[in-house]
Amino acid sequence: MNNYVSPSLLAANKNHLQDEIKTAEAAGAEYIHWDIMDGKFVPNTSFKASEVKAHAKSHKMINDVHIMVADPEIEAPMFVGCGADLVTFHIEAVKDEKEAEKIIDTLHKMKCKAGLSIKPMTDVSAIESLLGKLDLVLVMSVEPGKGGQKFMPSALRKIRKLRKIIDKNRFNCLIEVDGGINDKTGKRCRKAGADILVAGSYLFGHDDFEERVKLLR
Ligand code: DX5
Ligand code: ZN
Repeated sequence: MNNYVSPSLLAANKNHLQDEIKTAEAAGAEYIHWDIMDGKFVPNTSFKASEVKAHAKSHKMINDVHIMVADPEIEAPMFVGCGADLVTFHIEAVKDEKEAEKIIDTLHKMKCKAGLSIKPMTDVSAIESLLGKLDLVLVMSVEPGKGGQKFMPSALRKIRKLRKIIDKNRFNCLIEVDGGINDKTGKRCRKAGADILVAGSYLFGHDDFEERVKLLR
């Protein structure tokens, strides 16, 4: 198990994105989380590919790109081209596990890590057969689409279940959790077995950013 932190830029000040990225890096974050929304898979829109591309190489953190989009087959490789080190797409956005596998293979051929995410209503069983191929599984602890929502404790059971399967089979797959993470909910997720905590509104806009990152360890 690891204790990585991935600050979500969705909550950052978009007018000073470069400064916000530097703040995250200076605070010791290993990952930087980019939320991509297409207005179809989720109602909102967020970062454009050009914004990821403009900032991806300006720091040493891992560009953790979470694509909440209806067409991951097209968009996943596109974000590799923009500098993503890890692209996580949604199982709910593909037809079946076979289609998901194809996207995972494409990402790997492009030397990019592949992640798969499950929404709060989706069970671990939907992605279980792919865990051996994945670099990361992302458990959503809120409905994807916006920041600042309340943590759903049902995510904890899923993290525990994933931890068990991954450890038992010695899979090389990290567990990430995203949505409503703060010092308290973060602690519960770590205890359940999460490797990476994503946090947006808990970190950005606070003077004690670095202290808060430490509290998520
Ligand atoms: C939600 C996004 C999250 C979001 C988390 O759809 O995937 O990454 O930025 O925001 P907080 O930490 O504020 O819940
Ligand atoms: Zn996210």
